[in-house]
Amino acid sequence: MTSNHGKVIIITGAGRGLGRAYAERLASEGARVVLAEVDTAAGINTTEELRRRGGEALFIETDIASEESTSVMAVRVLERWGHIDGLVANAGLANSVGGASYHEITVDQWDRMMHVNVRGTWLTCRAVAPHMQKRKQGSIVTISSDTTMWGSAKLLHYVTSKGAIEAFTRAMARELGPDSVRINCVAPGLLNNDATAGVPQAKREWNLQNRAIRREGAPEDIVGLVSFLLSDDASFITGQVIVADGGLVFH
Ligand SMILES: NC(=O)c1ccc[n+]([C@@H]2O[C@H](COP(=O)([O-])OP(=O)(O)OC[C@H]3O[C@@H](n4cnc5c(N)ncnc54)[C@H](O)[C@@H]3O)[C@@H](O)[C@H]2O)c1
Repeated sequence: MTSNHGKVIIITGAGRGLGRAYAERLASEGARVVLAEVDTAAGINTTEELRRRGGEALFIETDIASEESTSVMAVRVLERWGHIDGLVANAGLANSVGGASYHEITVDQWDRMMHVNVRGTWLTCRAVAPHMQKRKQGSIVTISSDTTMWGSAKLLHYVTSKGAIEAFTRAMARELGPDSVRINCVAPGLLNNDATAGVPQAKREWNLQNRAIRREGAPEDIVGLVSFLLSDDASFITGQVIVADGGLVFH
């Protein structure tokens, strides 16, 4: 049994990819997981699978970029389980946006990226954190990317949005800390999942050659870190950005 057993933990974007991997890991630890996902079919599918495996899971259709949707989601979790212990603010537009140079990215693409990744992370925390502050406990994990540190080309809007999430995490840690609520950011490197299937082979090779650990990464490589940050074992850690990329960047 880990210290996440019995905890109520919300994971945004949990229908597929890394969010699903976090949900699977936390449910297997005995946490009560909330899958806050905009893709209804994916959300329901993952929730049913978790229940089949004996986990406690609740799907709530949620658009993180909507103030109303995020507020309703938090209220529904409270109605069901009475409190919230953890949040993984994972949902976002990822590498599937495709590569484009800084002058090719359209204003609409830029705005959409900021809308979902930055505003969405803020709105999710804004809906959930006050309930943690009231109980003087809780842990939030935001998700950025190691590309903020090595400056991946042709992803300027994505990289900028993830840099904002890191700054957001530090500033939020100062606001939440006095109420014993922690917030940390995990910055994964390139991992193998459906969303990254279209990453060009040259970029994949470059990652591999420049990592201290010269192998490809998988969702299983970071679920333990997210679980640890949510747990009481990380009780004195807040405001940190922790890179999990096989040692591509050190900071
Ligand atoms: N896969 C990687 O290699 C990698 C590396 C670094 C960082 N990340 C980050 O990890 C997170 C998850 O990435 P992934 O690879 O699993 O991506 P993914 O595209 O497979 O999954 C993202 C999930 O978020 C959901 N989502 C999108 N917009 C949403 C919204 N407005 N409201 C609620 N849910 C929404 C999608 O429906 C999807 O289920 C992202 O923040 C991504 O930037 C991924």
